[in-house]
Amino acid sequence: MVSVQTEAITPEVVNNALRTVMDPDLHTDIVTLGMISDIKIEGGKVFFKLTLTTPACPVKEKLETEAKEAVAKIPGVTEVEMESGAAVAGLKPRGKEPVEGIRQIIAVTSGKGGVGKTTVSVNLAIALAQLGARVGLLDADITGPNVPLMMGVDDYQPVAKDNRILPTENYGVKVISMAFFVNRETPIIWRGPMLDKAIRQFLRDVQWDELDYLIVDMPPGTGDAQLTMVQATQLSGGVIVTTPQEVALLDGQKGLAMFQQMDVPVLGFVENMSYFQPPGSTERFEIFGHGGGKRVAEAAGVPFLGEIPLDTSIREGGDLGAPITATNPESPVSQAFIEIAKQVAAQVSIHALTPA
Ligand SMILES: Nc1ncnc2c1ncn2[C@@H]1O[C@H](COP(=O)(O)OP(=O)(O)O)[C@@H](O)[C@H]1O
Ligand SMILES: [Mg+2]
Repeated sequence: MVSVQTEAITPEVVNNALRTVMDPDLHTDIVTLGMISDIKIEGGKVFFKLTLTTPACPVKEKLETEAKEAVAKIPGVTEVEMESGAAVAGLKPRGKEPVEGIRQIIAVTSGKGGVGKTTVSVNLAIALAQLGARVGLLDADITGPNVPLMMGVDDYQPVAKDNRILPTENYGVKVISMAFFVNRETPIIWRGPMLDKAIRQFLRDVQWDELDYLIVDMPPGTGDAQLTMVQATQLSGGVIVTTPQEVALLDGQKGLAMFQQMDVPVLGFVENMSYFQPPGSTERFEIFGHGGGKRVAEAAGVPFLGEIPLDTSIREGGDLGAPITATNPESPVSQAFIEIAKQVAAQVSIHALTPA
């Protein structure tokens, strides 16, 4: 008689099974990455906790399924119970002073204005919040602050508590902007030192509480505000927004060069106004050409994060203070923003968790 010898199920056996599940972005198994905890075994029933590096993980379902299946395959296991959650890692220290409570700071930039930086910042922030992250949005365009209009919070009267400025909140995103502090009709003509002070105050004197991601909508170009932002704290990285035209691409490359010179990781390129698709049609009209953002990203060896079509619902949502990602998250345009949000979150995790 041959008796089938089954190995006793121990936490080590469970861990070994889970070691076969790889995170495709981090190229490491989920046990080594510290994603597995709280293993409990009762007879044939196994319980464990899976903690992803971001609630916006693009491979969330894949990792969850593979982890459950890996444990289910262990001989003798009759039932698997998995609790899935996420914890955004903190910034990897690189010598600059972090902002207390804020895990990751993402700068959204472009070489020139009008390419959709604010539009991308706003929809990216809302998408990350919808995916379950705690998100803030800092309008660093001190002299041309557009975030409040697009976020529908332009009537906010700032309040201070215990010597700290309280941000406002809409669509699950905390917001601060210079527009709250100045008269809309008065042009802001601040220069160097004042810009510098305002940006530093927005980082450190605002009651952000705990944030997974602070999105920073940068002013166009590579001037004083960019320098301040890069120097004032440690950034997780920059997202460069570009349109498919050659000029915008060249400007995008300047943004890339600035980040690289300042030792800020480039999270990738987003191509905005990529193509136009008439409602109900499957045909795409490539008004400004197409694919330039991807080519520039590839040539520079940085990730391409995705493309956003030219769509009237995007402009209307912005003008009305009701961004498309908030009002119609199921629409293809919103799905494009949500996909980009996941790619950005994945890049942030990669930079936070892999050695420099
Ligand atoms: N993909 C898009 N489709 C249609 N309109 C867009 C799109 N992206 C941006 N816009 C519009 O273009 C204008 C400029 O965008 P904005 O985000 O303010 O650019 P930036 O911050 O780079 O100056 C806004 O009116 C905005 O609504
Ligand atoms: Mg803008």
